[in-house]
Amino acid sequence: MGTKILVTGGTGYAGSHTVVELQNSGFDVVIADNLCNSKKEIITQIEKITGIKPEFEHVDLKSPEETFGIFKKHNDISGVIHFAAYKAVGESTQYPLKYYHNNLYSLINLLEAMKEYSVNNFVFSSSCTVYGNPDSLPVTEKAPVKPALSPYGNTKQISEEIISDTVYTSQLKGISLRYFNPVGAHSSGLIGELPLGVPDNLVPFITQTAIGKRDKLKVFGNDYPTPDGTCIRDYIHVEDLAKAHVVAINRLIKEKQKDEYEVFNLGTGKGYSVLEVVKTFEEVTGVKLNYEITNRRPGDVPEVWAETKLANKELGWKAEKSLTDMMKTAWIWEKNLAENKIF
Ligand code: WQD
Repeated sequence: MGTKILVTGGTGYAGSHTVVELQNSGFDVVIADNLCNSKKEIITQIEKITGIKPEFEHVDLKSPEETFGIFKKHNDISGVIHFAAYKAVGESTQYPLKYYHNNLYSLINLLEAMKEYSVNNFVFSSSCTVYGNPDSLPVTEKAPVKPALSPYGNTKQISEEIISDTVYTSQLKGISLRYFNPVGAHSSGLIGELPLGVPDNLVPFITQTAIGKRDKLKVFGNDYPTPDGTCIRDYIHVEDLAKAHVVAINRLIKEKQKDEYEVFNLGTGKGYSVLEVVKTFEEVTGVKLNYEITNRRPGDVPEVWAETKLANKELGWKAEKSLTDMMKTAWIWEKNLAENKIF
C-alpha cells in the first residue's frame, strides 16, 4: 500500500492529470468530486493510462457531513490536493454568491475535517489571477496581491488567506500553487480539458473552432500595448502543472517545507500573445483557423507571465513542454472527443 492522497476535484482538468502523475509516482489516490463540472467516466480513462483505478467518493464538499465522511471512511489519508472549485471568471461576475458559497464553504469544510482527523499536508490550486494587473513583469510570488478583477479571483485570494491563517494556528502545513494558464492534454489523448458548454478559455475555443463545433474564434481585442496588440499570457502544459503537484505534496510529506505556508508560481516564464498561440496551432495542425478581431473582454489584463525561479529552485521543478506540445496534445484530444473515442 502506498501513501494515500485525497484529490478533490480529481475528475476535473488539472485534477485528473494530477491523479495520473500521483499514481505514476506510487501514491494511492482517492478522488472526491461532486461531478458538477466533469464526468465520472474520466476515472475509467485514468485507469486506462495508469492501470490503476483510483478510489472515488461522490461527495459535495459544501456539506460538512459529506466532507467529514471522507476522512471517517479513509483513515489513511496522508495529504490533500484541493482542486474542487468553480473557475469560470465570467460566470463568477454573474453569480458571485454561487462562487463565494461553493469555493469558500468547500475549503473551510475541508480544512476543518483535516484538523479533526489530523491530516496536515495541504496543497491548494490557486491562480495568477490573484496578481490582477501586475506592476512589473515577470511577476514573482512577492508581487502584491491586487484587488481581484472577478469574484472568482477574489475566492482564490480569500482562500489563500484562510489557508495561511489556518496553518499558523494549527499543525497544518500548506502550499498554494498559483497557476498561470494551464492548456493542452495528456500525451495518451485519453484525458484533457472538458469544458461543458461554450468554452471561456482560449485554447478549447481554438480546438472546437478547428474541429467545426464553433463557427469562429473571436480574438478579444488587438489594441493592447503589446507587440501584436493581443494579450500575452504564460501558457503551461497541464502535464507539467500536474507534476508540480506531486513535488509539492511530497515536499510536505517529507517535511522539506521551509515555512508552514508557501506559495509558488506555476508557469513557464515565457509569454505568448493570442495571435502567436493561433499561429502555432495552425502550424502544428495544418488547420487554418477562422477568427476575427472583436472588442476587448472586460477584465482582461494586457500581459502577465511568471517568474519561475522560486519553483525551479525550491521545488526542483521546471516546466518542460513547449507551446507546440500544448497545441499538439490539445488538438489530438479534441479529435478524440469528436470521434467519440472517449465517451
Ligand atoms: C487567454 C487570452 C483572452 C477566449 C483565466 C483565469 C485564470 C484561469 C485561466 C482558471 C486572453 C483571449 C480567450 C476567446 C480570446 N482560470 N481569448 N478569445 O483569462 O488569461 O485566465 O483562465 O483556472 O485564473 O483568469 O485565460 O484562456 O480565458 O484567455 O481572445 O474566445 O485569450 O482575451 O487574452 P485568462 P483565457
